[in-house]
Amino acid sequence: MSAAVVTGGGRGLGRAYALTLAAAGHAVVVNDLGDSPAAEVVAEIAAAGGTAVASTHDVTDFAAAAALIALAADTFGGLDVVVANAGILRDRTLAAMSEAEWDDVIAVHLKGTFAVAHHAAAHWRARAKAGEAVDGRLITTTSASGLYGNIGQSNYAAAKAGIAGFTLVAAQELRAYGVTVNCVAPSALTRLTEAPLRRYEGEITDARRHELDPGWVARVVAWLCGPDARDVTGRVFDIRGPQVGIASGWHLEPTFTQPEDADQLGRALRAAVAAAPPAADMEGQRR
Ligand SMILES: NC(=O)c1ccc[n+]([C@@H]2O[C@H](COP(=O)([O-])OP(=O)(O)OC[C@H]3O[C@@H](n4cnc5c(N)ncnc54)[C@H](O)[C@@H]3O)[C@@H](O)[C@H]2O)c1
Repeated sequence: MSAAVVTGGGRGLGRAYALTLAAAGHAVVVNDLGDSPAAEVVAEIAAAGGTAVASTHDVTDFAAAAALIALAADTFGGLDVVVANAGILRDRTLAAMSEAEWDDVIAVHLKGTFAVAHHAAAHWRARAKAGEAVDGRLITTTSASGLYGNIGQSNYAAAKAGIAGFTLVAAQELRAYGVTVNCVAPSALTRLTEAPLRRYEGEITDARRHELDPGWVARVVAWLCGPDARDVTGRVFDIRGPQVGIASGWHLEPTFTQPEDADQLGRALRAAVAAAPPAADMEGQRR
């Protein structure tokens, strides 16, 4: 049986991933802070006939992340899937942001992703070096804020853009061990997004609730973790309910050779800026 770890699996998107992966036949380590959220999801999985165990490890703690990966390997005899999903928000404009608001967000998202991915990668590398055929999956989590920018989220965008870049490198490195690495940029109604959504959109209708059900994202994650996606790696999937897009990265266009003269350089730089595609808006579109 395939073994999966879902960080932040006690609520929101992580809960949906854990339930969907368990229903697809994976044994799941449901990780979340505090005693009840992970245990409640484990009970839900067990009630539906699935296999799961709870973990309360803090992903920002490097040693705890090692223990989380070891728990999966020890309990289920291996590790096949890691979904690095745990997250927090501490929104504030740059001029007003405190050091703690910056550090906390970077710790949970960026270090938390590294810590769990590092220990999983070491596990997969050891198995591959021992001659085992590994068929692993690492799913990381970015956001529209990190890909396209969003006011009030410089800490979160820095972490999430970092995770998108991290995904490209991890995909290149872990390919040799039989592991794919892909990133999701979800949109879903969760504890994290309910208050901001109410502020921007007002009362949330039933149709909008359906559109923002975490289950839409979980279906894509489950596919990425399955056998059909064995050759898909290094991609970023932007999932907004039923709408799915592939977010492509930085491209170098246009390029030019610097002229000697400083005035000419200024004109050439202006021309290049005018000819370059505009940055995407929050919908990921060039407008
Ligand atoms: N909901 C969205 O629309 C949306 C959009 C873009 C990105 N995301 C990302 O998706 C992920 C899940 O978010 P969500 O909306 O389900 O939020 P959520 O708050 O419902 O769930 C996140 C879970 O992570 C857990 N967590 C926080 N710090 C942790 C730590 N140090 N160790 C272990 N667990 C920890 C929390 O306790 C919580 O249960 C996050 O990475 C978030 O940034 C969500």
